[in-house]
This record gives sequence, C-alpha cells and structure tokens, in this order.
Amino acid sequence: MNHETDQALTEKVLKAYDHIDDPRLKSIVSLLIKHLHTCIKEMKVTDQEWEFAWDFMRRMAEKTSPERNEFLLLADVIGVSQLIESHNHETPGQPVGYALVGPFFRANAPFRERGSSIASEETPGERVHISGRVYDFENNKPVEGAVLDTWQAATNGLYENQDEHQPDYNLRGRFKTDENGTFELIALMPTAYPVPTDGPVGELLRVAKRPPDRPAHIHFIVLAPCYETLVTQIFVKGDPIIEDDAVFTASQNMVGDFRQEGDHMLLKYGFPLKRGVSKMPKAPIPS
Ligand SMILES: [Fe+2]
Repeated sequence: MNHETDQALTEKVLKAYDHIDDPRLKSIVSLLIKHLHTCIKEMKVTDQEWEFAWDFMRRMAEKTSPERNEFLLLADVIGVSQLIESHNHETPGQPVGYALVGPFFRANAPFRERGSSIASEETPGERVHISGRVYDFENNKPVEGAVLDTWQAATNGLYENQDEHQPDYNLRGRFKTDENGTFELIALMPTAYPVPTDGPVGELLRVAKRPPDRPAHIHFIVLAPCYETLVTQIFVKGDPIIEDDAVFTASQNMVGDFRQEGDHMLLKYGFPLKRGVSKMPKAPIPS
C-alpha cells in the first residue's frame, strides 16, 4: 500500500482493529486510534519530538513501582483523573464533590474504634476531632454501617508509605457509622504537600511553571451497600490555594469549616450518599 494520504493510513489502521469482540473495548480502541491520528496530524509531530515522547514514557515507566505510579500522577496533573470522577459521578446541586482517589490510597487500613485517632501518639501535629453523619442524599435518612476509609499526610507532607519514621498504617483508618449514621474520629489538622517532582511529571510542571502543591486535605472514601461509593477529600475553608490544586481536585463543595473549640480543633461534616452500586476503588498502594 502507498500511504498516499494520511486518511488512507488511518482508515487502514482502524480496519485492522475492527475484529475486537467486546463492543466497548472495540469502541475505545478505535476512538483512541482516530483521535491520536488527528492529534498527530494537527501537531505536525517531528521525528525528534516523537523520540522525546517515547523516551518520556520510558522514563515514566522507570519511575513507576508498586508504591508509585508516574502514569497515574501524569493523569492527575493534566486533569484527566478528576475529569473521570466528575464526569461519572457529579450531579448538579450535590453538596459534596467527588475527588480523585490519588496515588496514596492504601488498601486494608485497620478498623478503628469510634472516636479514636488515626495518628499514633508520637505523631507531631495539631489534632482535629471530626464528627458527622452519613445520610441518604434523597431522603436525608441515616446510613447505618457505612464504612469511612480515611487517610492523610503527616505534617512533613509525607504519607506513611513514603516515610520510614511513621508506623505502618499511621494516619490511615476505617470507621463505621452507628444506627444514626454518625461517626467520630480524631485526625491531624490537614497539611499541604507537593506531588512528587523528581520524575518526568515534575519536568512537565516546571516547564509549565505550575506549583506542585496540593492544598491541605484529608481523604475519605465512604462505602455502604446499595449506595454509590463517595470518594472525596476535605479541604480547609478559606485556604487561598484551593483554586491552584496541582491535580485540579479541590473545589468549594469539598471544604470543611475547621473551628477552634477549647484546646482542640473541631470539624463537623456530612457525607451524602446516592443510591447506586457500591464498589471499592482499586488501591494504588497494595496492603
Ligand atoms: Fe492526598
């Protein structure tokens, strides 16, 4: 075949992938081919640029390990991860937004007693008492037995899997709601931290002059049978860098009103659940 026109090549490639049995997979593969070909033609990619691109991917693979996924980080900093969350789950008017899972979610965090702390005693940092309610978005009824899976970074900006000085599963824990849908736990006041910048994704951020910082937050996954799993994060009301989140997740429907109460901080927060399929997201960090 002569590749007389670019279009003839695109059509030949599409035809070569026309025999995939699974209709969903077939549609994804052909759309990917179609849009990638269009993109390459529009960008007029040179040989040198293509060499840079495949070497960039090789270097991303080099940075990827069971505890770190540079490809997921790239998806995060170009807004793809958040777009998938918003597109699949957000409905107008919902009081709490859906967030990306992020690279630091670790499976099988320990179940902890109601009101206990996810921080070990030696962990430095100000404590916050978090309490609230998990409820049905439609009728406001309490959701009993919902599981809240929570995790956060220490005040040095590191999650326990990144920091040999923290005990295993520090600042991670699972809690269950009671018959009134309520929960209580103690955490650290959230800390801002930069996403890892020692790999190719860091290069991209520097070229774009984008700060790598994530505003201070605590992660929550709220899970209950017959309800859509709520993956969210709580940011601090009034934090000036909410609009500049490196991974485009932070928004005003995920802020908590952290208040000083006596000698400690307090946060009251409600998690509305929509009827649907309960499904746990895949943990980027294995247990
Ligand atoms: Fe985080």
